[in-house]
Amino acid sequence: MDKFLIQGNGPLHGEVIASGAKNAALPILCAALLTDDTLAIRNLPQLWDVGTTRRLLTQMGVTVSSSGPGQVEINARSITTCIAPYELVKTMRASILVLGPLLAKRGEAQVSLPGGCAIGARPVDLHLRGLEAMGAEIDVEGGFIKARAKRLKGARIVFDVVTVTGTENLLMAAALADGQTVLENAACEPEVVDLANCLIAMGAKIEGAGTSTIHVQGVENLHGASHSVIPDRIETGTFLIAGAITRGRVRVTQTDPRMLEAVLDKLRQAGAKLSTGADWIELDMLGRRPRAVDIHTTPHPGFPTDMQAQFMALDCVAEGVGTIRETIFENRFMHAQELMRLGAEINIEGNTAVVTGVERLSGAPVMATDLRASAALVLAALSADGETLVDRVYHIDRGYEHIEEKLRKLGGKIQRVTA
Ligand code: UD1
Repeated sequence: MDKFLIQGNGPLHGEVIASGAKNAALPILCAALLTDDTLAIRNLPQLWDVGTTRRLLTQMGVTVSSSGPGQVEINARSITTCIAPYELVKTMRASILVLGPLLAKRGEAQVSLPGGCAIGARPVDLHLRGLEAMGAEIDVEGGFIKARAKRLKGARIVFDVVTVTGTENLLMAAALADGQTVLENAACEPEVVDLANCLIAMGAKIEGAGTSTIHVQGVENLHGASHSVIPDRIETGTFLIAGAITRGRVRVTQTDPRMLEAVLDKLRQAGAKLSTGADWIELDMLGRRPRAVDIHTTPHPGFPTDMQAQFMALDCVAEGVGTIRETIFENRFMHAQELMRLGAEINIEGNTAVVTGVERLSGAPVMATDLRASAALVLAALSADGETLVDRVYHIDRGYEHIEEKLRKLGGKIQRVTA
């Protein structure tokens, strides 16, 4: 199992390019199941989860070819099976995103119940309930979701809670359904909008993506298209914190500041000077210690849960006390224990963590427990005195493209140690 060896090394300085967004890439890869034509995808990040999705499609008989870095062409005409097996699904919860498209296009799907990050129960009941409302017959048997439908029918679906992949699954299903579907209390995340834009390029009739009510007029067929994935806002935010936590200056390019307003606000509150252009963001801490900020995670456009761990790392070395409330996932504070191994002062009660900033953290061996938790540990290590060994970095490889190379470009001392 690979590890990262990190030496805290003063302020990071420089420029880094944002990769394509993992959470947009995964549903868009699955959208290729909705047509017999070829879907060409650009700006695809090279990530473990993208590789898993490619393997998932390939084992179904889908042709996936690459014409260059970050480019794939996918054709699902010769699909041979509509089964997503446990071996793949257990490593990536987002595999559930094949369910809607397979059911809409092929009339059947068998998807193993998902695993993924260990950050709480994370059920998929809302995906299933929505598909049932569209006429699907669904059984859960032997750890598999078994779904069948003739042609799905448009329906009005009101989500009990905002779910990102739930919205995406139903959006893809509705694109080929008979009649109109209305999704209420839909997720407004930029990745949902990117998927909708890809589907529209494929001939889908969708209005309102990016708001909480999405209207979809089902069509008989979708066609091929070419689509470029939006930049990764979470990766962008993570590199900005790398600048903030080390009191440095970091510019992220090929990104989109409009997707990060809640995060940029918090960085300003932490004392960072921020400048933005159409596709770049620069953070300058002017050599100062960050101030503690309070965080309360909510669905977009609120503060993203996927940035919570990284801000906890920042609060660990900030001046003052920061209160962090996690409202999206239970059990998403596993990084706190590991941050304490580096000398952080954190008290947790229920879904609230109170972080009292310390002047310096000090290096120690720590263990990554999920994707964003591991990013937090890397950030903390970059600001700590001495050496930190982060174990189980496969979690970080799921969602950050070449993170160690990018951090080294900024002056970070980080090496991958292959066991
Ligand atoms: C997606 C993101 C993930 C992010 C999360 C929240 C992808 C691939 N992953 O995950 O990075 O952290 O959104 O922004 O896009 N829920 C139910 N029933 C359901 C579905 C969800 O109760 O059927 C609950 C979950 O337990 C959770 C909340 O809804 O408490 C939000 O989860 P959801 O938005 O579905 O997360 P994901 O789509 O899995």
